[in-house]
Amino acid sequence: MTHQNPLIQTLQELETEALDAIRAVPDGDALEVLRVSYLGRKEGRISGILRGLGALAADERPPVGAEANRVKESLREALEAREAEMSTSGEDTGAPAEDLTLPARHRWSGGIHPVNQVIDEIWTIFQSMGFVRARGPEADTEWYNFLALNTPLDHPAADEQDTLYLKDSVLLRSHTSPVQVRTMEKHEPPIRILAPGMVYRRDSYDATHTPAFAQIEGLVVDEGISFVDFKATLAEFARRFWGPGTKVRFRPSFFPFTEPSAEVDVKRMITMKDGTRVESDWIEIMGAGMVDPNVLENVGYDAERYTGFAFGMGPARIALLKYGVPDLRMFFQNDVRFLSQFTSQFPSQFTERSAT
Ligand code: PHE
Repeated sequence: MTHQNPLIQTLQELETEALDAIRAVPDGDALEVLRVSYLGRKEGRISGILRGLGALAADERPPVGAEANRVKESLREALEAREAEMSTSGEDTGAPAEDLTLPARHRWSGGIHPVNQVIDEIWTIFQSMGFVRARGPEADTEWYNFLALNTPLDHPAADEQDTLYLKDSVLLRSHTSPVQVRTMEKHEPPIRILAPGMVYRRDSYDATHTPAFAQIEGLVVDEGISFVDFKATLAEFARRFWGPGTKVRFRPSFFPFTEPSAEVDVKRMITMKDGTRVESDWIEIMGAGMVDPNVLENVGYDAERYTGFAFGMGPARIALLKYGVPDLRMFFQNDVRFLSQFTSQFPSQFTERSAT
């Protein structure tokens, strides 16, 4: 063995002592004290030893310096390992505690889609007038979608340009009116149904059209249902939905399954930012009419005895007007920043649900 400088031995003893101390250290604060006492640049014990280097002969300095660096590195690793051990085992590492002044994280709460909110609102109004909910399949046949509704297959609506056919005579319903037929087949009058659902058309996808959209179908059939019932029911709906000042207009129109047919427009009262009230333009909200006797006969009803009215409206279009949304596509993009603006309508309901 070569001659060993006594400082090297001192360094090795110090290493052994320090490693024991680091292993035994109880918490992060004590660990920091150890770090400073061994490795501190000014007061640290290794620095202290190195200060004695100057008294050594030139050829003795390098091995002592090298050993000092090795011991420093060894202690640094041990300190780091102990710190990591304390943080994974949950011991106090002396790292700053959680910042209690940070703002609380926003509670994530769900909401009802604005179009569904409008459907719910419309449903509530008709429910209070004695309507019940009905539904039908989204994939339906030419019979229910067209023929039973007095619509011949050479009618433009039945064209492949407009309707999405699945196979043969099966198609994606292009309106909710087939639910009229399916309901009347199963039930005798009196009928008073509201049938919301998705419908499909070969249409563009732009600000005012989407190839899939919601519709709400309404149907009333009974003895003695007249044009007066028809107008009064829909006018009442419009005033309840848009407010008592709402004007309602029935414009003559044509649908194969209603006779006479009408398009229903409303003129709403709008409150401006400064509180003044102004009238909106006329806006079309639905197609409607008295049920064509051929439709009643197609389902086996006695058209001499029963009469009725039907209507169909697009809740997305109504939501668009109600909320001032500029583009129908926004209802489909599911951008949470957009949708979350509509959640405040049901705050308590949803906060409670998400809390459990
Ligand atoms: N089904 C028609 C449409 O989609 C709307 C409508 C329903 C018209 C009921 C009259 C009666 O355009």
